[in-house]
Amino acid sequence: MAEQRRCPVHVAPDSEGLGGEKGCPLSERAMAFDPFEGPYQVDPAEALRWARDDEPVFYSSKLGYWVVSRYDDIKAVFRDNLTFSPRIALEKMTPVSREAQEALASYGYAMNRTLVNEDEPAHMERRRALLDHFLPENLLPRRERVRALVRERMDALVDKGRADLVQEMLWEVPLTVALDFLGVPEDDMETLRRFSVAHTVNTWGRPTPEQQLEVAHSVGRFWQYAGKVLEKMRAEPDGPGWMHQAIRRNAEMPEVVTDSYLHSMMMAIIVAAHETTAHASANMFRTLLTHRDAWDDVCADPSLIPNAVEECLRYAGSVVAWRREATRPVELGGVRLPQGAKLLMVTASANQDDRHFEEAARFDIYRDNAVDHLTFGYGSHQCMGKNIARMEMRVFLEEFTRRLPHLRLEPQEFTYLPNTSFRGPDQLWVAWDPARNPERAQPGLRAAHREFAVGAPDRRDIARRVRVTEVTGEAEEVLSLGIAPVEGQRLPGWSPGAHVELCVGDYERKYSLCGAPGESGYRVAVLREAEGRGGSAHIHGHVRPGMELRLRGPHNLFRLDEAAEDCLLIAGGIGITPILAMADRLKALSRRYRLHYAGRSRRSMAFLDRLARDHGAALTLHPADEGARMRLPDLVAALPRGGQIYACGPARLLSALEELTADHPEGTLHVEHFAAAGGGPDPRAERPFTAELADSGLEVEVGAGETLLEAIRAKGVDVSSDCCEGLCGSCEVPVLEGEIDHRDMVLTRAERARNDRMMACCSRARGGRIRLAL
Ligand code: HEM
Ligand code: FES
Repeated sequence: MAEQRRCPVHVAPDSEGLGGEKGCPLSERAMAFDPFEGPYQVDPAEALRWARDDEPVFYSSKLGYWVVSRYDDIKAVFRDNLTFSPRIALEKMTPVSREAQEALASYGYAMNRTLVNEDEPAHMERRRALLDHFLPENLLPRRERVRALVRERMDALVDKGRADLVQEMLWEVPLTVALDFLGVPEDDMETLRRFSVAHTVNTWGRPTPEQQLEVAHSVGRFWQYAGKVLEKMRAEPDGPGWMHQAIRRNAEMPEVVTDSYLHSMMMAIIVAAHETTAHASANMFRTLLTHRDAWDDVCADPSLIPNAVEECLRYAGSVVAWRREATRPVELGGVRLPQGAKLLMVTASANQDDRHFEEAARFDIYRDNAVDHLTFGYGSHQCMGKNIARMEMRVFLEEFTRRLPHLRLEPQEFTYLPNTSFRGPDQLWVAWDPARNPERAQPGLRAAHREFAVGAPDRRDIARRVRVTEVTGEAEEVLSLGIAPVEGQRLPGWSPGAHVELCVGDYERKYSLCGAPGESGYRVAVLREAEGRGGSAHIHGHVRPGMELRLRGPHNLFRLDEAAEDCLLIAGGIGITPILAMADRLKALSRRYRLHYAGRSRRSMAFLDRLARDHGAALTLHPADEGARMRLPDLVAALPRGGQIYACGPARLLSALEELTADHPEGTLHVEHFAAAGGGPDPRAERPFTAELADSGLEVEVGAGETLLEAIRAKGVDVSSDCCEGLCGSCEVPVLEGEIDHRDMVLTRAERARNDRMMACCSRARGGRIRLAL
């Protein structure tokens, strides 16, 4: 027994004491891990919960792989493709028997490197040469074709009342779209389907010796088929599609896009483009139909579709694990890996890592960082076809939620092809009552579709429906709104300093949350601004209890450091709202705090009763009409060492505090801005610059009239954004080299001085070049 438990890779202890007995990661659970059966096949993310919690990187003796389960570790591996080579990405998980090898050889099978498993520098040179077709602007014209294909099949099934979606839609459409994109003639679909299943089993499965032989013949035939298609395509040099482009590049630069690459890619890309998307779509329907509230929300509001698709890719992606090999001894997740260590990165587990996603096991189509999932990989090998897959999945969902909102999942047992990496149900039976098809009453519905931009979802579309429970006058011109989830939903938790964005009529306005401890739902306070742009007046004039609104967030850009020993809280006017929530929290934590609240007069100052009741001992009021002015220099001077200031109020109050604390240590002053200096880049005043994306291996030219964010996205690289005016921090990108011209309101002076991150929506390079870790 003792012998059995020894680490089979014998990592010798090094000078830091890592490795050897101490670093040996083998445990009972690690030894029992089997990805081909049991819990991993049922739910790979849940099956590795123990690993995420206790052994984030462990050696699986059954597989001969180091299994990596946490988000940060997997992203770090994807990020560094020199230390972690992708060369084993398509290696056979189960060694091939001699008979199977002979069978493969009889077909002249010589699968070589493609893109996904090619090392640098060959990979990046090739990827750049073949990137054009995948850029968002070049994908846009394909949308119509995808729509037409989906609609054709939808017309064929809409009156049937029952269907296996995999068989009737989700398998064939992605295959046709893939062949179209590649420029490959649409030949025998069913044969191709059998071929690609064989390829999956061959690469990621654990076939028995008999199956291996059978699979080898299928794979061999697939290889020959791919070769024949390639020959046919070579005869048509001006043909359309990506493979034709690759053939032309092969003629122009044969050392970059080699002959052997073309044949191997021809076979690999059909699987990469097709099976991945078919499975992801089937997983999406299964997930949404088992979370009926989410399905109903999407039916009611199609603008939620792009983020719902992204959340499905996170929660139940079609690629659940990917591989890399360590090219040198390296430490990962506290475990020392030897050179040559093979890594199975379970991206499905990373996607449900609570360290990165709040309540990660919960399916939530309103999650605003769903797009951070690793289902498409990350970095220089990140899926080139992600925006085609997104486009297809969005069209599927849009057509079904519009034309068959009453679709339901039939009770059934789901089966999956046992393998480590590709995951999707073999069948997906759904049913509906055709008599209730909305287009019977409204024929125009059949064609009344909605389109989405190509690329990652826009955070601004992630708005949930909420209900106003009460409207209370809090002071002169100040109302507070109680907000509850609509039936069947719940609102995410929030922390002091957080704000939400309310969408009321055509207005969208941000308000800090200020609910009392224990109060269910949210509370915001709205000051009617006489000089405002009409949003607050509209809320005062129109919002009534029972009304339904849309709400984005919460987001927190004004976080309270709960470890702070002493806090000075300063509020001016309606700025009391986040400050009140902070005071509540500090009191609950038994921290020392003082609260100074200034306003025109007591009549205009909100929450006075509650403040007096809950924070009386810490409170000083400064109503201007009573001459009780707030003397900021005195307050700042009295701040004890290590004390922190949290302030919210008019811009002049905040800038006065910024000046007064200029010599204080970093992290003394925390403020929140709700308005930016405004305007996009002015092409007459700005200079163009080059951004090098180190992780993606790309160079991006940023024109004088565009933002860094726009230029990066045009290259197909995802960066989140929200406010697009330098206020929210969601577009932050890490900077490796080059001086930054900061234009945002998010970073502190010290953070700016570190020159290691910038807001891509507004900040620019000071010189001609900047290097980003993207
Ligand atoms: C690479 C997943 C759809 C083409 C990858 C990788 C993953 C992946 C995990 C490896 C990433 C890495 O190593 O960092 C998916 C999923 C899809 C999908 C989950 C559908 C939901 C597509 C489609 C196409 C495509 C539709 C083409 C039309 C590629 C290519 C690569 C790739 C060419 C290699 C990129 C490189 O190594 O530079 N994909 N994929 N994929 N995918 Fe996809
Ligand atoms: Fe909000 Fe850039 S998107 S700071």
